[in-house]
Amino acid sequence: MPSPDLCIIGGAGHVGLPLALAFCSRGLTVGIVDRNEDALAAISRGEMPFMEIHGEEFLADALEKKQLIFTSDASIVKETPIVIVVVGTPIDEYLNPEIRLMEDCLKELVPFMHDGQLLVLRSTVYPGISEWTQKFFKKNNLGVEVAFCPERIAQGYALREVFQLPQIVSAFSDEGRKRASDLFKKLTDEIVEVEPMEAELAKLFTNSWRYLMFAAANQFYMIANDLGLDFSRIHHAITHDYDRASDLPRPGFAAGPCLFKDTMQLAAFNKNNFALGQAAMSINEGLVYYLISRLKAKHDLSTKKVGILGMAFKAESDDPRASLSYKLKKQLSFVCEEVLTTDHYVKTDDDLVPLEQVLEKCEIIIVGVPHKAYRDLELEGKIVVDVWNVFGKGTVV
Ligand SMILES: NC(=O)c1ccc[n+]([C@@H]2O[C@H](COP(=O)([O-])OP(=O)(O)OC[C@H]3O[C@@H](n4cnc5c(N)ncnc54)[C@H](O)[C@@H]3O)[C@@H](O)[C@H]2O)c1
Repeated sequence: MPSPDLCIIGGAGHVGLPLALAFCSRGLTVGIVDRNEDALAAISRGEMPFMEIHGEEFLADALEKKQLIFTSDASIVKETPIVIVVVGTPIDEYLNPEIRLMEDCLKELVPFMHDGQLLVLRSTVYPGISEWTQKFFKKNNLGVEVAFCPERIAQGYALREVFQLPQIVSAFSDEGRKRASDLFKKLTDEIVEVEPMEAELAKLFTNSWRYLMFAAANQFYMIANDLGLDFSRIHHAITHDYDRASDLPRPGFAAGPCLFKDTMQLAAFNKNNFALGQAAMSINEGLVYYLISRLKAKHDLSTKKVGILGMAFKAESDDPRASLSYKLKKQLSFVCEEVLTTDHYVKTDDDLVPLEQVLEKCEIIIVGVPHKAYRDLELEGKIVVDVWNVFGKGTVV
């Protein structure tokens, strides 16, 4: 096997794997470096470990052309001129960024890095991590160019979007910026060059902005619903042929592994002074409590079985990470006779039951996530909570 053109640390993950496949499709050989040996084994057999549109075709092509190398051993970075790091950057249970995970990852790489390499941070990082990384290599007497080039794809759609979106590129020298730009020009024509701190904030502002938009929709929904009004009708009135408001999202659970944690990263960075972000968190997370309180006001939940349709964090996804359906399940389990959960795609939760069982046993049905598979269900006689208006019968709870 030849040396890889680049290595991706965290290459079996939701961002790393599509990125690896995208580079393979441009003729590069990629080393996928990941701790998750099960995922590495599955990918090397041609199985995508998660849903990704066109993932299987890209993977089959890369395997056939022998463009992928799989390993959990970081020493492979010795053999490559470019290392991309895209490991997870979560927050802890107290909403503080877990910076140490990134630091530990970089410490693991250091013994195998050498002068002249380009290290690209692709994870969404706490502001300042890029500079810390650059100083860290210098302290270790390594002439490594550090770049920060944030990923902006929507999960599941990476293999379309990574070729369409402008790539934000930042680095600490002209040489680093040029090398990172040349790398991402293999994927897309348009490069936006900024300074590292600008790029770090651009990514956090983008995700926080999206989270704020969802919060606005959710708060409008709750105001309308308290008046007994169907917000889906108001949403239509606002957005129909009216460009200035056409991007108002529909209400629903704003969840997943990025928006909440990146809004909280920004709040932590700004010394907990991010009133809009913190309000958005209360509203988006609070939608769960709001729906339960509305149900409680109308029904004796202690005698009711409740079913949740959809446990992934968003529609047409198999990823349950940070899904609000789980918060809903937990809160309901304190007040209902029984809570049953189902999902059309999620495979990693042993508590899920078939859809038919949920429909047969439960008097109350709550749409957790609007998978297309639920659109044509017959729910006559059920109490339905459908904030997303999947069934087209309105959103009033
Ligand atoms: N998921 C998205 O849609 C998305 C979009 C844009 C940006 N991001 C950002 O990208 C980063 C990665 O997110 P993700 O969703 O791909 O996470 P993920 O958990 O799916 O993938 C991370 C991978 O890194 C591996 N890993 C962790 N530490 C490692 C180490 N020290 N050495 C080798 N492998 C290691 C894990 O096994 C995992 O496979 C995060 O910073 C996230 O905020 C995610």
